[in-house]
Amino acid sequence: MKSITFRIKNCDSLFTVCIFAMNNHLDTMNTVLQTAIDAAQKAGKVLKEGFGTDFTISSKSQIHDLVTEYDHKSEAIIIETIRSSFPDHQILTEESGHHASDGDITWIIDPLDGTVNFAHGIPFFCVSIAAIQGTDILCGVIYSPMTEELFSAEKGGGAYLNGQSYKVTQQTSLLHSFLVTGFPYSVKENPLHCIEHFAHIVGMGIPIRRLGSAALDLAYVAVGRFDGFWEVALQPWDMAAGALLVKEAGGIVIDYSGNDLNVLKSSSIIAGNIDIVKALRNEIDSVNLTIPKR
Ligand code: IPD
Ligand code: CA
Ligand code: CA
Repeated sequence: MKSITFRIKNCDSLFTVCIFAMNNHLDTMNTVLQTAIDAAQKAGKVLKEGFGTDFTISSKSQIHDLVTEYDHKSEAIIIETIRSSFPDHQILTEESGHHASDGDITWIIDPLDGTVNFAHGIPFFCVSIAAIQGTDILCGVIYSPMTEELFSAEKGGGAYLNGQSYKVTQQTSLLHSFLVTGFPYSVKENPLHCIEHFAHIVGMGIPIRRLGSAALDLAYVAVGRFDGFWEVALQPWDMAAGALLVKEAGGIVIDYSGNDLNVLKSSSIIAGNIDIVKALRNEIDSVNLTIPKR
């Protein structure tokens, strides 16, 4: 933010006037969030229209890593919507990669999170859009078109579902918690011992769901439907919007080393309220200590 400094006549103090610059900044932030909402809803409408129709499906990194024509349609709508408001912002998307530009704000987009569900006629998927500046996530929007649920957060402004404010749960006991997780497409390679972690935590008798959309998993943690979430090998577009939602709902989001999540770099994630995240990390650590590396 730029500030304007001047000396007021007949006055000894030097005043730094940043009101105009602040208003400007707030206006930009409002437009960023509004653009994210607009893009997510437009893309979500197209996904809903395409759901259950006869669309093309192909594989990417391996047979189960799918992409449909609707991933591409959704992505094109989102990029067009962002470009028309912010032609100089950078964009990072799952399907078309990095669209470089001079701006210091980068949009991170998953045009269809839960593609495998979408491709198999399971109505659990979403659009996930975030805007970041450096490592700061400025806003995050996750839209589930089949349930018409819009999860949104702006840095410092709280987390919302369809306009209503939400918090993470206050559950303090991992044994009493209700958790959600996911597995990467590379699960066969067992990255970071994700198979043993799952076996260990499910073996504790804790109810766990695997719903197939990391972005919605995080959004559900933010609004208190789950107490916690963990996964490995996620990409920035899977995590960015959801991580801000959880933080703005009063939770924390870390990687397996205990550092604050860096959506561009972290390859593991644990999210929820502080007690559940700490307890989950302890359990994950305990597994690492007892299982020989493959
Ligand atoms: C996938 C989903 C899934 C998670 C995978 C992601 P996609 O994203 O978020 O829940 O377990 O690791 O890749 O392919 O549906 O966009
Ligand atoms: Ca994804
Ligand atoms: Ca996707």
